[in-house]
Amino acid sequence: MRTTVDDAPAGPFLRRPLDGSHRKMFIGGAWVDALSGETFETRNPANGALLATVPAASAADVERAVAAARKAFDGPWSRFKPYERQVLLLKIADLFERHWDELSLSDTLDMGMPIVRTRANRNRVIGMLRFYAGMATSIHGETLANSLPGEVLSSTYREPVGVVGAIIPWNAPTAASIWKIGPALATGCTVVLKPSEEAPLTPLLIGEIMAEAGVPDGVVNIVTGTGREAGAPLAEHPVVDKIVFTGSTQTGQSIIRASAGNLKRVSLELGGKSPVIVCSDADVERAVPVAAMSVFANSGQICIAGSRLFVERSIHDDFLERLAVFTSALRIGDGIDPETEIGPLISRRQADKVDAYLSSGRAEGARLVIGGGRPTQGTLADGNFVEPTIFADVCDDMKIAREEIFGPVIAAMPFDTLEEVASRANNTPYGLAAGVFTRDLSRAHTLAKHLRAGSVWVNTYHAIDPAVPFGGYKMSGYGREGGEEHVHEYLNTKGVFIRTD
Ligand code: NAI
Ligand code: MG
Repeated sequence: MRTTVDDAPAGPFLRRPLDGSHRKMFIGGAWVDALSGETFETRNPANGALLATVPAASAADVERAVAAARKAFDGPWSRFKPYERQVLLLKIADLFERHWDELSLSDTLDMGMPIVRTRANRNRVIGMLRFYAGMATSIHGETLANSLPGEVLSSTYREPVGVVGAIIPWNAPTAASIWKIGPALATGCTVVLKPSEEAPLTPLLIGEIMAEAGVPDGVVNIVTGTGREAGAPLAEHPVVDKIVFTGSTQTGQSIIRASAGNLKRVSLELGGKSPVIVCSDADVERAVPVAAMSVFANSGQICIAGSRLFVERSIHDDFLERLAVFTSALRIGDGIDPETEIGPLISRRQADKVDAYLSSGRAEGARLVIGGGRPTQGTLADGNFVEPTIFADVCDDMKIAREEIFGPVIAAMPFDTLEEVASRANNTPYGLAAGVFTRDLSRAHTLAKHLRAGSVWVNTYHAIDPAVPFGGYKMSGYGREGGEEHVHEYLNTKGVFIRTD
């Protein structure tokens, strides 16, 4: 629903309750409304409560933000020394520590992830900021022995690509924002970040932390709005040098098309249908909770969800029984309750979409082991909840085994041989992640080598380290986040030849 707001207080947002009041967006260091005056609402998915209205940006606002980012890129920001950018990132990390309670609360309220989880992301997110701080002073070109006639000094310079448009989904607003902003600050780029219209509040808070840290005006801009009205103009914009995107494969494809106008660089972290393979020699006690939470954490709204579960036939029935016992004990509820393990889905639309997959699983003949419904006890009826669900006897060609559901649904299947499971696991257009449970080193190596996925976890899942590149194979996207490669995504390499004789 859209309303028009005449005047509302600008930031600071920090320590202001999410009571339905209006928030502004952050452009060129100022807190502003959309030029049209349009706004949209963001609600708590656990109970439907109105949290805030925010500006509904359109192309004209994107224009303003891109101009501010370009001006900042060409201005004083370009003269910041690497150590000065490092100091800034370290300061932001310190402010994240100070404001962590509020950041995690904001994510929990705006997108539903249980507070135990949003709080627990602390070290990972702050670790990212400190990693990028380190990278800021490690960017370097090379001097190369040249094969040219005469005396020529051949070298490479590493230069920031320029204005980066960053478009993120709703499922992890804090971490996704930092994964885009961190490398930009490390390399000297400027950013226009467009959060998801489903969860814009924490990114706005992060805008405020940027200002508090002393990030120069226009270096980081946060523009709230829909994909169509604000995301697409950003992806098309001729002054934007690069788009970094996390979200659905379909939107990723439209971003590639939109990028063609000025051939901007693009990196994409897209959907997945990741396999988890449990071998008969696995430590089952350990594998059960990890396999379950590889999907059920964040109610399945995780790009790396291990949503296809392959269990070696000899332990299949026992494993599924234990998995069902573990799942039945998970506490569903409002994420604000520290006891809650399974929060709501982001929206009614997303819950309906997952529901349609549940019906499809039943219709195609999969066996429902547990879950399969929308809980309606007490206040759960007011939120977008879906029960953690396990389907067994799933076939590779069923819809629930092929498509990204982005909900708490596991599709379980038996397997007989390693060769067979590797080939079935790879039989998907996606290639984001994979999990393997085995105590046998040779099986671990064989699968790690043959699985076509950007991350393979053995006897663990979800491990994301700021120092290790993360990203997709195939239709899960290209480009890497994390590690040195991440920083290179934000740099151009220039070859420089200086004749010295
Ligand atoms: P989406 O990929 O459309 O949205 C992600 C971001 O892109 C949002 O900020 C959105 O406003 C923006 N966007 C949308 N259309 C755009 C366009 N044409 N140009 C530029 N930006 C655009 O995902 P959405 O609509 O939130 O969810 C749809 C489905 O996508 C979900 O049900 C889920 O299955 C999948 N999804 C997968 C994600 C993953 O990480 N694997 C993340 C989010 C969604
Ligand atoms: Mg919301």
